[in-house]
Amino acid sequence: MYNINVKCLTGLALTLPLVFGLAAEKRDFDVFDYINPLIGTVNGGKKPTASFPMARFTKSNSRIGHVFPGATLPFGMAKAVADVDNPDEKQGGFASDDSNITGFSHMHDDGTGGAGCPGDNVTSCHFASNDRATKRLNGSVKAKPGYFSISLDTLINTEMTVTNHTALYRITFPSNSTDASKNDSYSPLILVDLIDLPQSITNGSIAVDPKTGRISGTGTFGPSFGVGTYNLNFCADFSGAEVRQTGIFQNNLPSPGTNNLTKAQAPAGAWTQFKAPSNHQILTRVGVSFISVAQACHNAETEIPHFGFEKVWKSAEDAWRTKLSVVEVDETGVDDDLQTVFWSGIYRSMISPQDYTGENYLWDSDEPYYDSYYCIWDSFRSIHPLLTLLDPESQTLMVRSLIDIYRHEGKLPDCRMSLCKGFTQGGSNADIVLADSYLKGITAGVDWETAYEALISDAEDEPADWSIEGRGGLRSWKSLGYIPIHDNDPDGTGLMTRSVSRTVEYAYDDFCIAQVAKGLDKFSDVGKYLERSNNWRHLYKSDQKSFVAGTTGHEGQTVDTGYTGFLQPKNINGSWAYQDPSFCSPLLNFTSCYLNSNGHETYEGSAWMYTFFVPQDMASLIRTLGGPDQFSARLSYLHTSGLLYIGDEQAFLPVFQFHYAGRPGLSAKFSHFYIPSQFNNTISGIAGNDDSGAMGSFTTLAMIGLWPVSGQDVYLITPPYFPEVSIISGQTGRKATVRNVNFDAEYANIYIQSATLDGRPYEKNWITHDFWLNGGVLELTLGKSESRWGTRRQDLPPSGLK
Ligand SMILES: *[C@@H]1O[C@H](CO)[C@@H](O)[C@H](O)[C@H]1NC(C)=O
Ligand SMILES: *[C@@H]1O[C@H](CO)[C@@H](O)[C@H](O)[C@H]1NC(C)=O
Ligand SMILES: *[C@@H]1O[C@H](CO)[C@@H](O)[C@H](O)[C@H]1NC(C)=O
Ligand SMILES: *[C@@H]1O[C@H](CO)[C@@H](O)[C@H](O)[C@H]1NC(C)=O
Ligand SMILES: *[C@@H]1O[C@H](CO)[C@@H](O)[C@H](O)[C@H]1NC(C)=O
Ligand SMILES: *[C@@H]1O[C@H](CO)[C@@H](O)[C@H](O)[C@H]1NC(C)=O
Ligand SMILES: *[C@@H]1O[C@H](CO)[C@@H](O)[C@H](O)[C@H]1NC(C)=O
Ligand SMILES: *[C@@H]1O[C@H](CO)[C@@H](O)[C@H](O)[C@H]1NC(C)=O
Ligand SMILES: *[C@@H]1O[C@H](CO)[C@@H](O)[C@H](O)[C@H]1NC(C)=O
Ligand SMILES: *[C@@H]1O[C@H](CO)[C@@H](O)[C@H](O)[C@H]1NC(C)=O
Ligand SMILES: *[C@@H]1O[C@H](CO)[C@@H](O)[C@H](O)[C@H]1NC(C)=O
Repeated sequence: MYNINVKCLTGLALTLPLVFGLAAEKRDFDVFDYINPLIGTVNGGKKPTASFPMARFTKSNSRIGHVFPGATLPFGMAKAVADVDNPDEKQGGFASDDSNITGFSHMHDDGTGGAGCPGDNVTSCHFASNDRATKRLNGSVKAKPGYFSISLDTLINTEMTVTNHTALYRITFPSNSTDASKNDSYSPLILVDLIDLPQSITNGSIAVDPKTGRISGTGTFGPSFGVGTYNLNFCADFSGAEVRQTGIFQNNLPSPGTNNLTKAQAPAGAWTQFKAPSNHQILTRVGVSFISVAQACHNAETEIPHFGFEKVWKSAEDAWRTKLSVVEVDETGVDDDLQTVFWSGIYRSMISPQDYTGENYLWDSDEPYYDSYYCIWDSFRSIHPLLTLLDPESQTLMVRSLIDIYRHEGKLPDCRMSLCKGFTQGGSNADIVLADSYLKGITAGVDWETAYEALISDAEDEPADWSIEGRGGLRSWKSLGYIPIHDNDPDGTGLMTRSVSRTVEYAYDDFCIAQVAKGLDKFSDVGKYLERSNNWRHLYKSDQKSFVAGTTGHEGQTVDTGYTGFLQPKNINGSWAYQDPSFCSPLLNFTSCYLNSNGHETYEGSAWMYTFFVPQDMASLIRTLGGPDQFSARLSYLHTSGLLYIGDEQAFLPVFQFHYAGRPGLSAKFSHFYIPSQFNNTISGIAGNDDSGAMGSFTTLAMIGLWPVSGQDVYLITPPYFPEVSIISGQTGRKATVRNVNFDAEYANIYIQSATLDGRPYEKNWITHDFWLNGGVLELTLGKSESRWGTRRQDLPPSGLK
């Protein structure tokens, strides 16, 4: 018996250490040797359990990683992997643990395998996912770009590869079944279960063609972190064995000869049983489509006409090699595991958003349609800046797609999956993605006037339900200049939480709008949004102290952190409310600030951390916090005191913000503080939920050495983790190289002593996107201790509008 579940979306996960050759044996470099899709496929971090009642899957909960390790093309819709039954780990479909495999599915998410039915009687086969669940053979998983395989303890091996909308499975039965090849009991049965991983299906229907064995069907499913439902269709064909009989099943009860089923209540589906395959293999091709069964079949027939597994696999590999080929490194001396962290980070950054162009049944449009923005709050900081650097063509299509979503939905998305709206976590973060792309010359076919209209809509027009798009509390935002705790908001509904983090995020969103306004000559708007970008000041309480528990942890909040002045919630009437500055840090009620009705005034983090979120005007923040020395000490304390959890995306920028205080060396130091101790080549090697590649893109960008301050044309310079890294710009075709002089692979020399750009001295500790566009060589001379390089006032990154 062998099952394939239909199901959809979401996925992230990691595992088997790849076996590498000895570093001493220098061989031809193959980038695939350094991609380990199994990084992050089991619980990696220490984040405790959080409740997340709104979502079917918790997006950021106790189990970390949730990496999708299966077969996919870059940004592909079809995502094939084996699905596990561990409720804490199945977000990505697969997990590198001991849990049972229930099947294989093609969109991430769900379907298993067994052999013939006991006694050669289908009635005795196990159809329901709980009953058919099978153990894996330990150590049998192979995961590579475009390929995944696993053996179950039935000894059946399943390999899978994909095209954009079609998964191809090669199922190999144990060869000693061959002894039984004349025995009718070796009659493989493949079933398609309409179930999805979160078991959200309604309105399923399925049919099996008794002549060809084709199984096709449709279902309505719920999205994993959003509202509404979506329809998905599939079409499965088989090759390699003759059809013996077909039927449907409900629960464990098969109905041979009954070939269709509507209004199915899961577990239910259809099956085809085959005669013994002549070479012990059956190929299964599953096309998917949001539009119709006919289109699912058409996608499969056109993308994989001949069931040629090797050919499809080779094309998938080629697609990945092309994407990766824009990056070159001199890896001399660099540890293989670190190289794997680097390349795997790029790989994971290109799994989503997914290209659903031609598959959107919601509206007709000639524009591209990308989906699985999961979520932009997570992706704006590093994924989109990395894509802009490595794959500006895809970034351009994503930007156009965001604008087209605005055209047809009336708002930009903040989170989106499976054609459904997802939950907003903080600000209207697509504003930042658009500004970042605008400033970096993403232009081809982009309608920036409509984009601007979308930005203004976010800033000015509150939607009726701001939990899924736009911003809430805009009336207060405009009149008070902050989001008050317990806001009185007659204009829309949403969770009345996160007043502090929403205030600082809205302020930055408005700054991003001001930059685009300036570029598009909307002069009257520039001042307005710049003014609003100062609103973070309204929640800064200058006499607020912060106490944390003593080292034993049993003494209450008695130890003075020594820092005064934090963001605090404020009432509508202007009086202060209170939230302990360390609340929702790992030191105090870590998980109390998730997205639920009991949430508090900061989202997934503490006021301690959010106090640093003023990327638009770090100079003012540093003055406010007592000057550069005080600021650097406070930021170091954030990293070393246990107050910061590096596994959530807001922690990324604070690693590099020392640049603004004239201490670029400390940014390099803290980058190495976290990599590889928190981001490494193990199945648990991701500190947090990967969130569609956010953690991977963080690691890769940190290792390139030029950290992008998303939403601004600013890269903060730290030394690459390689002797040299080069990127060929997809925008200009030119090559830019960042080179270390005095590189040592032990990373003792991580402090820049001096720098040159194309041979001329370069004193600033930051650089603009022009460097990548124009090409050239940025050469950094390294030493063992901090130097004066990049420390003067005129060397610092810009604060305010450039
Ligand atoms: C298959 O098993 C069922 C239930 O055990 C039994 O009723 C049926 O007769 C069997 N069919 C055959 C062909 O043996
Ligand atoms: C996994 O499947 C095996 C049968 O293959 C079963 O004995 C075991 O109970 C299952 N484990 C879980 C956790 O369901
Ligand atoms: C698989 O192997 C790992 C160690 O390699 C071990 O911890 C685990 O228990 C094994 N699982 C099974 C089901 O044998
Ligand atoms: C798959 O989709 C990508 C865009 O997402 C496109 O560039 C590529 O050509 C497609 N592959 C095939 C074989 O159609
Ligand atoms: C088939 O071969 C595997 C090892 O290759 C063995 O474990 C299994 O017992 C064999 N099955 C039969 C029915 O002989
Ligand atoms: C066919 O397989 C069944 C179940 O494994 C077994 O009981 C039977 O003896 C086999 N028949 C022959 C002819 O090998
Ligand atoms: C149920 O699915 C059918 C297609 O199989 C579709 O026509 C119908 O609109 C769906 N109904 C609901 C309530 O989604
Ligand atoms: C379902 O089966 C019935 C009778 O076998 C047939 O008339 C009908 O066309 C089938 N429907 C589908 C969707 O295959
Ligand atoms: C301001 O509002 C808070 C919260 O509603 C209330 O406790 C406080 O008394 C008010 N202060 C004044 C001066 O009205
Ligand atoms: C903080 O956590 C403690 C238990 O660790 C709990 O009793 C308390 O209610 C929590 N406080 C809030 C505000 O969630
Ligand atoms: C790898 O990263 C994980 C997750 O951050 C961490 O728990 C683990 O200690 C790290 N392992 C090593 C060997 O550094």
